[in-house]
Amino acid sequence: MCGIAGYVGPKNAIEIVFDQLKRLEYRGYDSAGIAYLADDHIEVIKKAGKLSNLGDVLLSEQRSAHSAIAHSRWATHGAPTDGNAHPHFDEHEDIAIIHNGIIENYHELREDLLKQGHHFYSQTDTEIAAHVIGDELGKGGNLEDAVRRAVKKLRGAFALVIVSKKEPNKIVAARNASPLVLGIGCGESMLASDIPALLPYTRDVVVMEENTIAVLTEEKIEILDGEGRQLPVQPQHIEWDLASAERGGFEHFMLKEIHEQPKVITQTLSGRIDSKGKVRLDGVFSDHVWAEIDRVNIISCGTAYHAGLMGKHLFEKLLRLPTDVYYSSEFRYGDPVLSPRSLAVFVSQSGETADTLAALKLCKSRRIRTLGIVNVIGSSIARECDRTLFTQAGPEISVASTKAYTAQVLVFALLALHIAQVQETPGVRVDEWVDELLRLSDLAEDALSTEEAVKAICAKVKDTSLAFFLGRGADASLALEGALKLKEIAYIPTQESPAGEMKHGPLALVDESVIAVFGATDASIVDKVISNVREVQARGGTVIGVTTTEDRAMEQVTDLLVRIPKSKFEFLSALLSIIPLQFFAYHMAKLRGCEIDQPRNLAKSVTVE
Ligand code: AGP
Repeated sequence: MCGIAGYVGPKNAIEIVFDQLKRLEYRGYDSAGIAYLADDHIEVIKKAGKLSNLGDVLLSEQRSAHSAIAHSRWATHGAPTDGNAHPHFDEHEDIAIIHNGIIENYHELREDLLKQGHHFYSQTDTEIAAHVIGDELGKGGNLEDAVRRAVKKLRGAFALVIVSKKEPNKIVAARNASPLVLGIGCGESMLASDIPALLPYTRDVVVMEENTIAVLTEEKIEILDGEGRQLPVQPQHIEWDLASAERGGFEHFMLKEIHEQPKVITQTLSGRIDSKGKVRLDGVFSDHVWAEIDRVNIISCGTAYHAGLMGKHLFEKLLRLPTDVYYSSEFRYGDPVLSPRSLAVFVSQSGETADTLAALKLCKSRRIRTLGIVNVIGSSIARECDRTLFTQAGPEISVASTKAYTAQVLVFALLALHIAQVQETPGVRVDEWVDELLRLSDLAEDALSTEEAVKAICAKVKDTSLAFFLGRGADASLALEGALKLKEIAYIPTQESPAGEMKHGPLALVDESVIAVFGATDASIVDKVISNVREVQARGGTVIGVTTTEDRAMEQVTDLLVRIPKSKFEFLSALLSIIPLQFFAYHMAKLRGCEIDQPRNLAKSVTVE
């Protein structure tokens, strides 16, 4: 989720690409840089931190150029430092490149290049790509020929943008998976990772297709296929205003981020399942540590706490590893009993939640091993933990957490499988789990198609005064998360609990004004859920079922029903059910005229107690 910008034309390219970066600021970044064609060389300026750090250097003297590329980085490989910031040079500084995405085979490529005498100055996969392209350029042909040959050697999901001092008025771009948009101006050409950066300069854009190469000059834009054949350039005219363009055309960031989840699943898994179908988690504890761990304590807040419940479910069912989940605010003041051989896991999207950070410091003071599951690289919790697994979900803008939750649960699944692999836990079919994880992005894409059905249900129940969220097993954890979503953006009171808990009190709340959302994705216990459904209906409540496409039982009893694709593992089917629950909260909030991305009383990161 980096920001990419490029311009070639008669205006001052440096000013334009810096302005473009500022228009991509919402995508999040932790460092930024620019490369422009000076007289006989490529000038690269890059700074960690805020965009203004780069701006201060750029504006410290008069600079102008007619071709430039710029990048704001959301780090995935290597800390956010000046050295790791993009652009990166090849061995001889003939070319400079910027990159968005992940190059999975950069380890092997780096080893080969080191043997050829190459030198590297960063920990990034991007620098490796620069050297591969520079190497190809040295074999002859123009820049686009070299890029085309080089891209065939790279594996992963990426977008690359390259300039060469030998062809100063040209920018070449290669799109493998990460987005790239081209802008067609009058006597100028430009590109960006997202449409908002182009709108002030042109509304005629071309969204690059996967596995194509673009050649931008002042005069024109050409698009080539993987064999160098010309493809038609078919611009579309964008009518969006700038604000809606930053949301990718979605009305709210929350809706955009719900729809991003299939891509986020791919990103979270990226580089963590090798070509042999084994889980490969870099940077966690050495293998022998897992045999010492006698208990896991998961400590987090809100949605991250609900992800922790899913982690507990997996650790106990798959690994038989005793696991507790604590609210950070309770943990830090509860004088917890901690086994010296326990592992403390801190889940946090922002990595700045005060209660979670305080709980982390408490554990460190007691010399407990700490592991972070965090989205924001360079955040306090990520820095304080002994080890951190990043969710790689990209910036989450909406206060209501959606894609980060899915990514957190996925990281728990990867961690559980990693431990099962290391300890050869009997009965855990890692290969079958990996197959299902690799299918999950497609299943999530199918689950997105429930949006229209959910919208229709919302129209029928929009005036409800109280919403129950109920389920059993993993569905019980999803019930808590679905309830939180509805509370925080539609301001509807909810009652959430395991379904079997209802008759111990909450059932007294049920009357004909109440709706009850039942998660029933596990066929092995659906009969128990159905008896709870009947308890609600007997008292006049309206029941909405969330079940799988293979269910034939819930459809017999519920008043309203949403179906999600079924995974081989109930745990993953339950996880997929979060998508209709997110849509439910979103569309109920919309029907009730609520402010969605910035709900009242709440903040995206609770950095105070
Ligand atoms: C979830 O939608 C809320 N935004 C909130 O509960 C959030 O999950 C909680 O504050 C924890 O934030 P963190 O993940 O950044 O630590």
